Amino acid sequence: MSNIRILPEILSNKIAAGEVVERPASVVKELIENALDAGSDRILVELEHGGRSLIRVSDNGCGMPKDDALLSIERYATSKIRSDQDLFAIRSLGFRGEALPSIASVSRFQLISRTSKEDIGTEIQIAGGKIRHVKDVGSPPGTMISVRQLFFNTPARRKFLKTVNTEMGHCADVVSRMALAYPGVQFRLHHNGRRIKNWPKAIDPIERIADVLGREMKTALLPVESTLDDISLSGWLASPNLFRTTARGMVTYVNRRFVRDRTLRNALMKGYSGRLVKGQFPVAVLFLDVPADKVDVNVHPAKLEIRFAEPPRVHGLVSRAAASVLQRIDVPGWGSRAANQRIAEPREAYAPLPSGPRSVPSETDRPPAAHEPISTVTPADVPTDPGAASGPVQADLWHRGRFSDLRVIGQFHNTYIVCESGSRLVLIDQHAAHERIYFEQLERGRAEDHPSSQRLLVPETLELGFKEADVLKALSPDLATIGLDVEPFGGTTFVIKSVPDILAGREAAPLVVEIAEKAVEIGVAGDLDTAVQESLMLTACHSVIRANQPLSDTEIRHLLRQLDQCENPAHCPHGRPTFVEWKTAELEKLFKRIV
Ligand SMILES: Nc1ncnc2c1ncn2[C@@H]1O[C@H](COP(=O)(O)OP(=O)(O)OP(=O)(O)O)[C@@H](O)[C@H]1O
Ligand SMILES: [Mg+2]
Repeated sequence: MSNIRILPEILSNKIAAGEVVERPASVVKELIENALDAGSDRILVELEHGGRSLIRVSDNGCGMPKDDALLSIERYATSKIRSDQDLFAIRSLGFRGEALPSIASVSRFQLISRTSKEDIGTEIQIAGGKIRHVKDVGSPPGTMISVRQLFFNTPARRKFLKTVNTEMGHCADVVSRMALAYPGVQFRLHHNGRRIKNWPKAIDPIERIADVLGREMKTALLPVESTLDDISLSGWLASPNLFRTTARGMVTYVNRRFVRDRTLRNALMKGYSGRLVKGQFPVAVLFLDVPADKVDVNVHPAKLEIRFAEPPRVHGLVSRAAASVLQRIDVPGWGSRAANQRIAEPREAYAPLPSGPRSVPSETDRPPAAHEPISTVTPADVPTDPGAASGPVQADLWHRGRFSDLRVIGQFHNTYIVCESGSRLVLIDQHAAHERIYFEQLERGRAEDHPSSQRLLVPETLELGFKEADVLKALSPDLATIGLDVEPFGGTTFVIKSVPDILAGREAAPLVVEIAEKAVEIGVAGDLDTAVQESLMLTACHSVIRANQPLSDTEIRHLLRQLDQCENPAHCPHGRPTFVEWKTAELEKLFKRIV
């Protein structure tokens, strides 16, 4: 007799639930998606105990007649796709036909639904996957689904649930993400009978962004819009100064579906590259519209991951669009903003998604992490100026401040240039500034195919490890484009024949060794572009004057003028700021002249 058996339906639904229903927030997501697919424009989400005892989603969508309502709780029953072609051109949020039966198999489930054409609605009650009763009920048009005691029959799952606040936080995140993508739909969220959020219909999407992320975000976010043939991008980006320490601030949608996608995140990070240091992440809300047949959404049961047919095109569009917006705003605007600010991780129990600059704590709340360069931190005791981050920030950011307009007071510690501008004290990190200047010089030489280099009278030779030698061979044509001529000389030996002008007089071998090591770390084969960028950064870094070097007035003025020529003068190539600034009012507070 065979040992293999077809599983009973209740059991297979429970197994499917294991993938689709991880926690209350997953139920909230599935039910809201169904409500949106049903064309609702009013959705109410009611939760009790973080969704552990009750999750109820009511909508005013198309509703279901009795037969459909009964089918909807069957596995693989869906109204959203019919053929296998449909599977490759999905326009609805759901399509698998498994959310409702999965949820019903691990909870006490009630569905009440009525179409506007009928006078009477249908109620179905299910417990742990078994239908308890089906009856006619009076109900408004639309659908209301109540899910009680989630995981009551799967104790192992129930044990993994976190505290009420944590689960509630996840649920609130889900509602916020949906609300961001559907500004035309009213969303209300209640918890234990209390209203937590009410987002009315918004005509202008930025109004919804402001409602969800905080009013202050309305002025801190900059619109981004771009198209590449049939792909279009829209959304908002925050200045790099409003960075976060986790990737949670990058909220990305594809065809209005919230997704966590590496291509999109990498592209966004690339757009911000040179403006954030390691461990810093941007805040952005991006909507990508891709033809339905150019994206596969059927790769993850919860549909949080997707696959693009042409990832490089998407990557290119997003990174270029982000970089071009930032290039316009990320310039010094003397008298307009405070030094770098961190957006706090949400502190409130259910603060959804990235919160606005109002939640920026004073840096006294939080000691700087070890990896942070000191210069990114507003000095202790200097309260972050809420006025600097709200109100007129956006307008001010567009005002281009020129470094050469600064009045130079002197040099501090042979490392920082001390300047003033109107009501600001400005400190420039000379090393970071030079790195930026040289980096852009190298980039320009490379782009124009005209690197300025010097031939070495006595070529330098160097010996590398096997892996390093291998990647350096692959990289050497690109190094030549910045004037660094390194040629194989048999085996793992190389000879350096010329170097970029800016490196003249310095030993080149240590730089080449570092470039090769870095390239091994990155893996040149996979990402030549990044390896070349890193090589440029390393070359700039090796070429600059180190800290602790006195500069004459002429040299300082020259440096400020060169900074003005830069596309991204505000950050060194690694993303550290080239300058920090304080308003007079901030200094006066420090001296207790004002409180
Ligand atoms: N709120 C609702 N209003 C109207 N119809 C609904 C609603 N919720 C579910 N349905 C109907 O029930 C069907 C089954 O829903 P279910 O969520 O199980 O599957 P799906 O949405 O088709 O696919 P997926 O499993 O990917 O979510 C849907 O296709 C839809 O026809
Ligand atoms: Mg569904």
